[in-house]
Amino acid sequence: MKNNSLVEVKNLKVHFPVYGGILSKIVATVKAVDGITFSINEKETIGLVGESGCGKTTVGRAMINILKHVSPDVEITGNINYHLNGVEADFVKIPSKKMKKYRSDVQMIFQDPYASLNPRMTVKQIIGEPLQIHTKLSSKEIQEKVIWLLEKVGLQPEQANRFPHEFSGGQRQRIGIARALATNPKLIICDEPVSALDVSIQAQVINLMMDLQEEFNLSYLFIAHDLSVVEHISDKIIVMYLGNIVEIGTSSGIYHHPKHPYTKALISAVPEPDPANKNKKRIILKGDIPTPMNKPSGCAFRTRCPIAKPECAIEVPELIDAGNGHLVACQYYNEEF
Ligand SMILES: Nc1ncnc2c1ncn2[C@@H]1O[C@H](COP(=O)(O)OP(=O)(O)O)[C@@H](O)[C@H]1O
Ligand SMILES: [Mg+2]
Repeated sequence: MKNNSLVEVKNLKVHFPVYGGILSKIVATVKAVDGITFSINEKETIGLVGESGCGKTTVGRAMINILKHVSPDVEITGNINYHLNGVEADFVKIPSKKMKKYRSDVQMIFQDPYASLNPRMTVKQIIGEPLQIHTKLSSKEIQEKVIWLLEKVGLQPEQANRFPHEFSGGQRQRIGIARALATNPKLIICDEPVSALDVSIQAQVINLMMDLQEEFNLSYLFIAHDLSVVEHISDKIIVMYLGNIVEIGTSSGIYHHPKHPYTKALISAVPEPDPANKNKKRIILKGDIPTPMNKPSGCAFRTRCPIAKPECAIEVPELIDAGNGHLVACQYYNEEF
């Protein structure tokens, strides 16, 4: 059963102030995440998709509470309520310096494994570092655990003394996964972990991640800009547009019965391998994605929406249930176009 809630995100907003002028006043606000609500259960994979700039990475960083570290002025509101070993923790409210005891439970892996691995550290040091920080293991025990982790991710113990540049992209991502796994996390935020890899390698890394999920009862928030990557691995898929969720559904619900006009356009852009479906309609959206510094009023998608009405400029649409828990942020979703 996959119904024990691990984390509930409620009305999360992440706004970055933009400074300008000689007095460095706030001249604008980037509404990177603008009121999103969803939850992740234990052992569940949630796919998070949407075009570049819609706020996916910001959601991931908020969920491991590292945004203030990089941008001290960021405004974060809402809740990110974790249930960790019987302890409740709202990551929106916990200051960075009090995060240490939770860091081991929620880990992140990144799109570019090379940039996220210290080039001057050996693999053994990279994977051993979180063990040194978060556990009381002796150096011999750490060494043993590193070797065990390397085997878990399909690398050889002999490779422990090598440096990141001696590995291929796929192997580097395996090192990143081993490092994330080291502290026995409950949730791993996976920020486009295979986008930079060759297609053949992508499948290997994803299969590895699925095996590890089974073995270690992991939950994943799997971020991708491409729906086809998350379709087969996600229990649920969340579609974002300009800082808001436009649709949440099961993987097959989103893929085969998309409701929101934006999701329909995204699905129509996925290449169709089955020749029988070759003539499916491709939906081309008009215009470019606006900036989150100057979001359209009401429904942010309305400026590109094929079924937009004047009313859409007035109120931000709520997520409504389109049946079986499939949520869509558009009351006109049944309209053909
Ligand atoms: N530290 C920051 N300061 C200011 N703006 C930011 C910061 N981080 C992200 N943004 C802006 O927030 C928006 C969402 O970015 P991001 O979460 O990286 O989107 P995605 O991962 O979907 O491509 C973008 O407009 C980006 O420029
Ligand atoms: Mg990103």
